[in-house]
Amino acid sequence: MKVAIIGATSGIAQEVAKLYARDGASLFLVARDAAKLDAVAADLRVRGAASVDTFVADLRGSHAEVAARAGEGLDVVLIAHGTLPDQRAVDRDPAAQREAFDLNATSVITLIAHFANVLESARHGTLAVIGSVAGDRGRRSNYVYGAAKAAVHAYCDGLRNRLAESNVALVLIKPGWVSTPMTAGLKQNPLFASAASLAHGIHTAIAKRRATVYLPGFWRWISIVIRLLPGRFVKF
Ligand SMILES: NC(=O)c1ccc[n+]([C@@H]2O[C@H](COP(=O)([O-])OP(=O)(O)OC[C@H]3O[C@@H](n4cnc5c(N)ncnc54)[C@H](OP(=O)(O)O)[C@@H]3O)[C@@H](O)[C@H]2O)c1
Repeated sequence: MKVAIIGATSGIAQEVAKLYARDGASLFLVARDAAKLDAVAADLRVRGAASVDTFVADLRGSHAEVAARAGEGLDVVLIAHGTLPDQRAVDRDPAAQREAFDLNATSVITLIAHFANVLESARHGTLAVIGSVAGDRGRRSNYVYGAAKAAVHAYCDGLRNRLAESNVALVLIKPGWVSTPMTAGLKQNPLFASAASLAHGIHTAIAKRRATVYLPGFWRWISIVIRLLPGRFVKF
Protein backbone atom coordinates (compact mmCIF):
# COMPACT_ATOMS: atom_id res chain seq x y z
CA MET A 1 0.00 0.00 0.00
CA LYS A 2 1.31 3.47 -0.89
CA VAL A 3 0.26 6.35 1.36
CA ALA A 4 1.07 10.06 0.94
CA ILE A 5 0.72 12.29 4.00
CA ILE A 6 0.80 16.05 3.47
CA GLY A 7 1.56 17.97 6.65
CA ALA A 8 3.22 14.87 8.06
CA THR A 9 4.67 16.56 11.18
CA SER A 10 1.19 17.43 12.47
CA GLY A 11 0.35 15.81 15.80
CA ILE A 12 -2.63 13.99 14.29
CA ALA A 13 -0.87 13.00 11.05
CA GLN A 14 2.08 11.49 12.96
CA GLU A 15 -0.28 9.15 14.78
CA VAL A 16 -2.04 8.15 11.55
CA ALA A 17 1.33 7.50 9.92
CA LYS A 18 2.28 5.13 12.76
CA LEU A 19 -0.79 3.00 11.93
CA TYR A 20 0.17 2.83 8.26
CA ALA A 21 3.77 2.01 9.21
CA ARG A 22 2.44 -0.84 11.34
CA ASP A 23 0.49 -1.99 8.24
CA GLY A 24 3.82 -2.12 6.35
CA ALA A 25 2.84 0.67 3.94
CA SER A 26 5.22 2.66 1.73
CA LEU A 27 5.02 6.26 2.92
CA PHE A 28 5.58 9.58 1.17
CA LEU A 29 5.72 12.39 3.73
CA VAL A 30 5.61 16.13 3.10
CA ALA A 31 6.28 18.85 5.69
CA ARG A 32 8.04 22.20 5.86
CA ASP A 33 10.47 21.52 8.72
CA ALA A 34 13.27 19.26 7.45
CA ALA A 35 14.62 18.28 10.87
CA LYS A 36 11.19 17.39 12.28
CA LEU A 37 10.33 15.50 9.09
CA ASP A 38 13.57 13.46 9.29
CA ALA A 39 12.81 12.50 12.88
CA VAL A 40 9.25 11.45 11.99
CA ALA A 41 10.51 9.42 9.02
CA ALA A 42 13.16 7.65 11.09
CA ASP A 43 10.56 6.68 13.69
CA LEU A 44 8.21 5.29 11.02
CA ARG A 45 10.99 3.16 9.48
CA VAL A 46 11.55 1.54 12.87
CA ARG A 47 7.81 0.99 13.23
CA GLY A 48 7.65 -1.18 10.11
CA ALA A 49 7.03 1.04 7.08
CA ALA A 50 8.15 -0.69 3.88
CA SER A 51 9.80 2.56 2.77
CA VAL A 52 9.64 6.23 3.76
CA ASP A 53 10.32 9.02 1.26
CA THR A 54 10.19 12.66 2.29
CA PHE A 55 9.80 16.00 0.60
CA VAL A 56 10.28 19.37 2.30
CA ALA A 57 7.83 22.06 1.19
CA ASP A 58 6.13 25.12 2.57
CA LEU A 59 2.54 24.27 1.74
CA ARG A 60 1.56 27.85 1.05
CA GLY A 61 2.89 26.86 -2.38
CA SER A 62 4.61 23.97 -4.23
CA HIS A 63 1.27 22.21 -4.70
CA ALA A 64 1.88 20.86 -8.21
CA GLU A 65 5.38 19.75 -7.21
CA VAL A 66 4.09 17.94 -4.12
CA ALA A 67 1.62 15.96 -6.23
CA ALA A 68 4.24 15.23 -8.89
CA ARG A 69 6.78 14.03 -6.30
CA ALA A 70 4.23 11.71 -4.73
CA GLY A 71 4.28 9.82 -8.00
CA GLU A 72 1.92 7.13 -9.20
CA GLY A 73 0.32 4.10 -7.60
CA LEU A 74 -1.11 5.96 -4.62
CA ASP A 75 -3.69 4.15 -2.54
CA VAL A 76 -4.26 6.83 0.10
CA VAL A 77 -3.54 10.57 0.30
CA LEU A 78 -4.08 12.36 3.62
CA ILE A 79 -3.98 16.17 3.72
CA ALA A 80 -3.41 17.26 7.31
CA HIS A 81 -1.60 20.62 7.51
CA GLY A 82 -3.24 23.66 9.04
CA THR A 83 -2.97 26.51 11.49
CA LEU A 84 -5.30 27.84 14.18
CA PRO A 85 -4.99 31.62 14.34
CA ASP A 86 -5.67 33.45 17.58
CA GLN A 87 -8.95 35.02 16.47
CA ARG A 88 -8.64 38.09 18.71
CA ALA A 89 -5.11 38.74 17.46
CA VAL A 90 -6.27 38.73 13.81
CA ASP A 91 -9.69 40.38 14.36
CA ARG A 92 -8.57 43.72 12.92
CA ASP A 93 -5.80 42.43 10.66
CA PRO A 94 -7.16 41.58 7.19
CA ALA A 95 -3.73 40.47 5.93
CA ALA A 96 -3.33 37.96 8.78
CA GLN A 97 -6.88 36.73 8.19
CA ARG A 98 -6.11 36.17 4.54
CA GLU A 99 -2.89 34.32 5.43
CA ALA A 100 -4.79 31.97 7.76
CA PHE A 101 -7.59 31.47 5.23
CA ASP A 102 -5.08 30.78 2.45
CA LEU A 103 -3.28 28.06 4.40
CA ASN A 104 -6.41 26.38 5.79
CA ALA A 105 -8.58 26.68 2.68
CA THR A 106 -6.81 27.71 -0.53
CA SER A 107 -3.70 25.56 -0.10
CA VAL A 108 -5.77 22.57 1.04
CA ILE A 109 -8.23 22.90 -1.85
CA THR A 110 -5.41 23.32 -4.38
CA LEU A 111 -3.71 20.17 -3.10
CA ILE A 112 -7.00 18.27 -3.17
CA ALA A 113 -7.48 19.41 -6.78
CA HIS A 114 -4.03 18.14 -7.80
CA PHE A 115 -4.39 14.78 -6.06
CA ALA A 116 -7.97 14.38 -7.31
CA ASN A 117 -6.65 14.51 -10.86
CA VAL A 118 -3.92 11.97 -10.10
CA LEU A 119 -6.28 9.47 -8.45
CA GLU A 120 -9.01 10.05 -11.02
CA SER A 121 -6.59 9.20 -13.85
CA ALA A 122 -5.65 5.99 -12.04
CA ARG A 123 -9.34 5.30 -11.26
CA HIS A 124 -8.15 4.19 -7.84
CA GLY A 125 -7.52 5.47 -4.33
CA THR A 126 -8.84 7.38 -1.35
CA LEU A 127 -8.27 11.07 -0.75
CA ALA A 128 -8.70 12.05 2.91
CA VAL A 129 -8.75 15.60 4.24
CA ILE A 130 -8.83 16.89 7.81
CA GLY A 131 -11.50 19.56 8.17
CA SER A 132 -13.06 20.55 11.48
CA VAL A 133 -16.36 20.86 13.32
CA ALA A 134 -15.43 24.56 13.36
CA GLY A 135 -16.56 24.66 9.71
CA ASP A 136 -20.16 23.84 10.66
CA ARG A 137 -21.01 27.26 12.09
CA GLY A 138 -19.17 30.58 12.15
CA ARG A 139 -18.45 31.59 15.73
CA ARG A 140 -17.00 34.71 17.40
CA SER A 141 -14.00 32.78 18.74
CA ASN A 142 -12.72 31.31 15.44
CA TYR A 143 -14.60 32.59 12.40
CA VAL A 144 -11.54 32.84 10.12
CA TYR A 145 -10.51 29.23 10.78
CA GLY A 146 -14.19 28.17 10.65
CA ALA A 147 -14.74 29.91 7.30
CA ALA A 148 -11.72 28.13 5.82
CA LYS A 149 -12.88 24.73 7.07
CA ALA A 150 -16.40 25.44 5.75
CA ALA A 151 -14.91 26.15 2.32
CA VAL A 152 -13.04 22.84 2.38
CA HIS A 153 -16.24 21.05 3.42
CA ALA A 154 -18.30 22.53 0.56
CA TYR A 155 -15.54 21.78 -1.93
CA CYS A 156 -15.28 18.15 -0.79
CA ASP A 157 -19.06 17.66 -0.94
CA GLY A 158 -19.07 18.61 -4.61
CA LEU A 159 -15.84 16.94 -5.66
CA ARG A 160 -16.79 13.66 -3.95
CA ASN A 161 -19.56 13.11 -6.48
CA ARG A 162 -17.22 13.74 -9.40
CA LEU A 163 -14.60 11.33 -8.04
CA ALA A 164 -17.15 8.60 -7.30
CA GLU A 165 -17.54 8.15 -11.06
CA SER A 166 -13.86 7.07 -11.15
CA ASN A 167 -13.96 4.79 -8.11
CA VAL A 168 -12.07 7.35 -6.00
CA ALA A 169 -13.30 8.03 -2.46
CA LEU A 170 -13.08 11.41 -0.74
CA VAL A 171 -13.14 11.22 3.06
CA LEU A 172 -13.62 14.42 5.06
CA ILE A 173 -12.60 14.07 8.71
CA LYS A 174 -14.19 16.56 11.10
CA PRO A 175 -12.51 16.40 14.51
CA GLY A 176 -13.59 18.28 17.59
CA TRP A 177 -10.86 19.32 20.03
CA VAL A 178 -7.69 17.22 19.87
CA SER A 179 -4.64 17.55 22.13
CA THR A 180 -1.85 18.53 19.70
CA PRO A 181 0.57 21.46 19.39
CA MET A 182 -2.26 23.35 17.61
CA THR A 183 -4.38 23.45 20.76
CA ALA A 184 -1.54 23.65 23.29
CA GLY A 185 -2.55 27.22 24.17
CA LEU A 186 -6.21 26.35 24.80
CA LYS A 187 -7.64 25.33 28.14
CA GLN A 188 -8.10 21.55 28.05
CA ASN A 189 -11.54 20.11 28.93
CA PRO A 190 -13.07 16.61 29.02
CA LEU A 191 -14.12 16.84 25.35
CA PHE A 192 -10.47 16.86 24.18
CA ALA A 193 -9.45 13.63 22.40
CA SER A 194 -5.91 12.29 22.06
CA ALA A 195 -4.24 12.36 18.66
CA ALA A 196 -3.73 8.59 18.93
CA SER A 197 -7.44 7.87 19.39
CA LEU A 198 -8.30 10.21 16.55
CA ALA A 199 -5.79 8.44 14.31
CA HIS A 200 -7.58 5.12 14.79
CA GLY A 201 -10.83 6.77 13.68
CA ILE A 202 -9.14 8.27 10.62
CA HIS A 203 -7.46 4.97 9.69
CA THR A 204 -10.84 3.18 9.91
CA ALA A 205 -12.75 5.89 8.02
CA ILE A 206 -10.23 5.70 5.17
CA ALA A 207 -10.38 1.90 5.07
CA LYS A 208 -14.20 2.04 4.92
CA ARG A 209 -14.15 4.89 2.35
CA ARG A 210 -16.60 6.88 4.47
CA ALA A 211 -17.78 10.31 3.24
CA THR A 212 -17.88 12.75 6.17
CA VAL A 213 -16.79 11.53 9.59
CA TYR A 214 -17.03 13.36 12.93
CA LEU A 215 -14.33 12.28 15.39
CA PRO A 216 -15.01 11.39 18.11
CA GLY A 217 -18.49 10.53 16.81
CA PHE A 218 -20.40 12.50 19.47
CA TRP A 219 -19.31 15.73 17.75
CA ARG A 220 -21.93 15.06 15.05
CA TRP A 221 -24.62 15.64 17.69
CA ILE A 222 -22.92 18.64 19.28
CA SER A 223 -22.58 20.13 15.82
CA ILE A 224 -26.26 19.60 15.01
CA VAL A 225 -27.24 21.44 18.20
CA ILE A 226 -24.84 24.32 17.51
CA ARG A 227 -26.17 24.66 13.96
CA LEU A 228 -29.78 24.74 15.19
CA LEU A 229 -29.20 27.37 17.89
CA PRO A 230 -30.60 30.80 17.06
CA GLY A 231 -27.81 33.33 16.37
CA ARG A 232 -28.41 35.23 19.62
CA PHE A 233 -27.27 32.15 21.55
CA VAL A 234 -24.09 31.65 19.49
CA LYS A 235 -21.97 34.43 20.92
CA PHE A 236 -19.02 32.23 21.91
N1 LIG B 1 -6.04 19.87 17.13
C1 LIG B 1 -7.35 20.08 17.00
O1 LIG B 1 -8.07 20.30 17.98
C2 LIG B 1 -7.98 20.02 15.64
C3 LIG B 1 -9.38 20.03 15.57
C4 LIG B 1 -9.99 19.98 14.33
C5 LIG B 1 -9.23 19.92 13.19
N2 LIG B 1 -7.85 19.92 13.28
C6 LIG B 1 -7.11 19.88 12.03
O2 LIG B 1 -6.25 18.77 12.04
C7 LIG B 1 -5.14 19.02 11.17
C8 LIG B 1 -3.87 18.67 11.90
O3 LIG B 1 -3.73 19.55 13.00
P1 LIG B 1 -3.01 19.14 14.36
O4 LIG B 1 -3.99 19.23 15.45
O5 LIG B 1 -2.28 17.87 14.15
O6 LIG B 1 -2.02 20.36 14.57
P2 LIG B 1 -0.44 20.53 14.56
O7 LIG B 1 0.20 19.42 15.29
O8 LIG B 1 -0.21 21.93 15.01
O9 LIG B 1 -0.08 20.37 13.01
C9 LIG B 1 -0.23 21.38 12.06
C10 LIG B 1 0.71 21.04 10.94
O10 LIG B 1 0.56 21.98 9.88
C11 LIG B 1 1.87 22.28 9.44
N3 LIG B 1 1.93 23.57 8.77
C12 LIG B 1 1.48 24.77 9.19
N4 LIG B 1 1.77 25.71 8.30
C13 LIG B 1 2.41 25.09 7.27
C14 LIG B 1 2.98 25.52 6.05
N5 LIG B 1 2.93 26.80 5.67
N6 LIG B 1 3.58 24.61 5.26
C15 LIG B 1 3.64 23.32 5.64
N7 LIG B 1 3.13 22.84 6.77
C16 LIG B 1 2.52 23.72 7.58
C17 LIG B 1 2.70 22.32 10.70
O11 LIG B 1 4.06 22.23 10.37
P3 LIG B 1 5.20 22.48 11.49
O12 LIG B 1 5.29 21.16 12.21
O13 LIG B 1 6.39 22.81 10.70
O14 LIG B 1 4.70 23.59 12.34
C18 LIG B 1 2.17 21.07 11.38
O15 LIG B 1 2.80 19.90 10.88
C19 LIG B 1 -5.28 20.49 10.76
O16 LIG B 1 -5.91 20.56 9.49
C20 LIG B 1 -6.20 21.07 11.81
O17 LIG B 1 -6.89 22.21 11.34
C21 LIG B 1 -7.22 19.95 14.48
